[in-house]
Amino acid sequence: MRKPIIGGNWKMNTNLASATQLADALTGSLHDVGDCDIVIFPPFPYLPAVGERLRGSRITLGAQDVYHEDNGAFTGEISTAMLTDVGVQSVILGHSERRHVIGEDDELINRKLLAALKAGLQAVLCLGETLEQRETGRTEQVVLSQLEAGLEGVDSEQMHRVVLAYEPVWAIGTGRTASPDDAQKVHAALRTAVSSRYDGTIADSIRIQYGGSVKSTNAAALFAQPDIDGGLIGGASLDAGEFGAIVRAGVTG
Ligand code: PGA
Repeated sequence: MRKPIIGGNWKMNTNLASATQLADALTGSLHDVGDCDIVIFPPFPYLPAVGERLRGSRITLGAQDVYHEDNGAFTGEISTAMLTDVGVQSVILGHSERRHVIGEDDELINRKLLAALKAGLQAVLCLGETLEQRETGRTEQVVLSQLEAGLEGVDSEQMHRVVLAYEPVWAIGTGRTASPDDAQKVHAALRTAVSSRYDGTIADSIRIQYGGSVKSTNAAALFAQPDIDGGLIGGASLDAGEFGAIVRAGVTG
């Protein structure tokens, strides 16, 4: 049985006051939920303050991105050591907004993933097709190729710290969600690919989150699918009540 993992990706939202308030609301309301991992990903400047609020709680701290170099002349970038220094345990890599808005490619994402794993972080590798790719029947081809490229050089031992997040680009922030059946098909294909690349034990244990307009009203049906092990939540994670309800759906899903 895989332990569900629910992530709250706050993206470029909140300010210092609302970020700490949201963290307080979440630690208050989620202390008694059943067995699952809960990670929140605030904007970089608020990591230390939010981390303080999470101390002693069951929610862990994540970052929305990281750079692969250790230090040096990389203006604007943030290293793995800077993240671990402020208590970060997980990092999102290859989010569709970084792929499609900022322009990151598979090679850069892979370098970042390797750096994150080397630093002992949990890496959440996001994969997903655009609407055009889906409509031309290329969904599996696209996500499997992102998977192969993203995992280049990752060994079996490191795979225990990798989480996959299937997030169809057309479903992110749009209010459109993949149907539970459609999402399940992609998750199953990803698990099969992990099995061929590594082995059945790793494929059975790796968690694959679904992301893209998950809300309290659709979470349970998605999380009930056999290969969906929780979700990566954007917009709905900014509302403590909504996010709490999604987490609870993940535990029972
Ligand atoms: P959304 O974002 O829930 O707002 O669609 C999901 C994500 O980008 O991780």
